[in-house]
Amino acid sequence: MINNAEYAISSAKVGQCPPGDKPEYAFIGRSNVGKSSLINMLTGVRGLAKTSSMPGKTMLINHFSINQGQWFLVDLPGYGFAKRSKREQEKLTAMIRDYVLGREQLTCLFLLIDSRLTPQHIDLEFTRFLGENGVPFAIVFTKADKLSHSKTMANVRLFLSTLEQEWEELPPHFVTSSETRMGRDTLLQFIEGVNQQMTVR
Ligand code: GTP
Ligand code: MG
Repeated sequence: MINNAEYAISSAKVGQCPPGDKPEYAFIGRSNVGKSSLINMLTGVRGLAKTSSMPGKTMLINHFSINQGQWFLVDLPGYGFAKRSKREQEKLTAMIRDYVLGREQLTCLFLLIDSRLTPQHIDLEFTRFLGENGVPFAIVFTKADKLSHSKTMANVRLFLSTLEQEWEELPPHFVTSSETRMGRDTLLQFIEGVNQQMTVR
């Protein structure tokens, strides 16, 4: 599935992102939720995307080329990191917004949700923003190794049932851990399936 993953480019603006028509899959979610770690787990390349225990690590749109440029994984800055200056926060919000709404190659956005938490206002807000703008997305629950399976699944169910109050149809969802590699095969198979639909078209 993934036999080669390489860093391609970092962009401060959507206009600087690489040209071409290859499908790309981007990861978004609160700062520190595990976006960069998930990219490393999926590709199997440790340190490919820069991670940190301090929130606010990823500040640019980072493209990673998969299987010699067949498709891309994209690491985005997180939202909701309070300890940023207002100016910086606004800049990042605009970057994320422009990318999510303006990047034609974006095939599916993965919205990462911390499986340790009950539904957070800021994440529900973000799902509304995606819904209102018709952005195709899937939900990835992260850090499933942190709590017992039953506690993790209780949070997953609670988040999905909260969404169900507003959505007629739920997006696909995945439960993952970058520590144990839980969810890796399922997520890669999902991407593979979408890639195949793209080439058929
Ligand atoms: P920003 O770039 O700051 O928005 O953060 P991010 O969402 O990219 O998070 P990152 O991947 O840097 O991970 C943040 C912290 O969470 C790091 O200390 C990771 O080691 C840890 N982490 C990420 N995923 C997992 C996971 O599945 N399990 C555990 N136990 N820790 C994780
Ligand atoms: Mg990051």
